[in-house]
Amino acid sequence: PIMKTLDGRAEMELSLAERLGIARVVVVSGDSEQSEDVTRDVGQAAAHVLRTFLHPPCTVAVTGGSSLAMLAELMPQATTPQDVEVVPARGGLGERHELLANTIASQLAARLSGRYRMFHVPESLSRATAERLAQEPTIAEMIDRIRSANLVVHGIGDALTMATRRGLDEETVAHLALRGAVAEAFGYFFDAEGHIVHMMNTVGLKLEDLSGDKMVIGVAGGRAKGPAIEAVAHAYRMDALVTDEGAARAILKKG
Ligand code: F6P
Repeated sequence: PIMKTLDGRAEMELSLAERLGIARVVVVSGDSEQSEDVTRDVGQAAAHVLRTFLHPPCTVAVTGGSSLAMLAELMPQATTPQDVEVVPARGGLGERHELLANTIASQLAARLSGRYRMFHVPESLSRATAERLAQEPTIAEMIDRIRSANLVVHGIGDALTMATRRGLDEETVAHLALRGAVAEAFGYFFDAEGHIVHMMNTVGLKLEDLSGDKMVIGVAGGRAKGPAIEAVAHAYRMDALVTDEGAARAILKKG
């Protein structure tokens, strides 16, 4: 009998799934670092994966960043109202307006013909203020909604790139470098083994919320994000990863 051989990408998806312990891995061809088209393809593939996981009524928590912005932009328009609520995963994390989780939540909700909730929390609070704020009744109610979301869709970044993009102070950046930070997601910074080395003082989803029955989807492409993707895969369980060949090769090449 003629055996059907897997094409290169399908093979990469299987190898990555096994290596990272993620049930569903989608690898689009090309490298986001090289071409905007690939960034779009990652966003489109992520929108598709999200739709397959979406079972209304449900709540979806999203993070910010360009990968998620692309997902929202390329989500096909639902023609009938859906009982879906989209919320930002955490309070402010230091992004331009169009890349803020609040912005993306409202755009995605519009595409899904669902509802959204905004969450306005200042960035860079002191730990004590963040804790006090979390006790305010209206904020506490919103945090509950976020933490009990059924689905979480998030971007993954290189630690030092994100530290710079958020304008973290020199002392924090030095601390991140010293502790070997390679990845950032949800405002948490991780080393290569997935240990938390730093976290932003904001409120919302916590790392421990990712266990249990939530579906977690990671979206990140580009060769330079390989180590970051691998690090977060050590830190918590993802049910699906949407990435590109650039990142996939960087991870698989490591042996
Ligand atoms: O700031 C939000 C965020 O999702 C970060 O947690 C993540 O590191 C980053 O954006 C990814 O951004 P991009 O998709 O633009 O690379």
